[in-house]
Amino acid sequence: MRDFTILGLETSCDETAAAVVRGCGHGPGTILSNIVFSQLEEHAAFGGVVPEIAARAHLEALDSIIEAALADAAISPAGIDAVAATAGPGLIGGVMVGLTTAKALALAWDKPLIAINHLEAHALTVRLTDGVGFPYLLLLISGGHCQLLGVHDLGRYELYGTTLDDAVGEAFDKVAKLLELPYPGGPNVEALARTGNPKAFSLPRPMLGRADANFSFSGLKTAVRQIVRAPDFWESSKADLAASFQASVIASITDRVAVAVDMFCANATPPDAPTLVVAGGVAANGAIRAALSRLANDKGFQIEVPPPQLCTDNAAMIA
Ligand code: KG4
Ligand code: ZN
Repeated sequence: MRDFTILGLETSCDETAAAVVRGCGHGPGTILSNIVFSQLEEHAAFGGVVPEIAARAHLEALDSIIEAALADAAISPAGIDAVAATAGPGLIGGVMVGLTTAKALALAWDKPLIAINHLEAHALTVRLTDGVGFPYLLLLISGGHCQLLGVHDLGRYELYGTTLDDAVGEAFDKVAKLLELPYPGGPNVEALARTGNPKAFSLPRPMLGRADANFSFSGLKTAVRQIVRAPDFWESSKADLAASFQASVIASITDRVAVAVDMFCANATPPDAPTLVVAGGVAANGAIRAALSRLANDKGFQIEVPPPQLCTDNAAMIA
């Protein structure tokens, strides 16, 4: 199969991104450029992403981000085979900005337009970076997503578990807010947890031992809130609370993944060396990664984590 060169756009949350990728869909592809403009500063004052602000910021930034992606790849529109853009799920204002821009470019350049499901792009990133073969087990953990999927083939995904309430990154962000750490909370909670005692607080370990592979984090978050709001809570025990929260999250995630591993092995014919792929922003958490590596090792799985900049939202995965 010949190589295709695709321009991809991503605007579904708070990253304005454009990338040019070359490949044939089998084995790793080549990322010719990958520009990500984070709107972090725009939303920091609000402690979370404000959809209306995000849409406007995408509109302002996208044209120059696309120009930069083409320049970085040293390619002109004539060298592009198709334009791809996130068509959902995501914040609707942002999705419209990216998708409408992609439609306009496709029309002006007379190229096909490819509408991409954002979650599918996350699910397949590891094929772009590492050429991992089908099937594999995917744990997708980010601010908006929390799912366990069997990735059997292109377009053939089996949902083993999902969150019943908050995504795990969302729980990290909310706990960060309770501990008065800056947004985005995940990396700050992880850093603080490193200096704390994970056994200091006895927090719920959500969903442990359940036969399904679902997640739930809102009860854990509420438990943290109750501790922080209690009159006898000491400022100095924040690190212990961060460490205890992270330990609960790790216990819950590893238990859920263990269930999904069994589902994956029961339903699919696993390859000789089955792979657990971890994607999404929370995959950047070193303690979570280490716990998942131990679990994968125990279960006879390999573990693959795309590089952090391709774990979080980006346009290379869309392309
Ligand atoms: O994939 P992503 O960039 O955006 C989407 O949500 O789609 O993920 C961002 C999420 C945020 O909730 C952030 O707090 C979390 O990933 N995150 C982390 C860490 N780094 C990022 N959570 C825990 N530990 C980290 N080191
Ligand atoms: Zn995402």
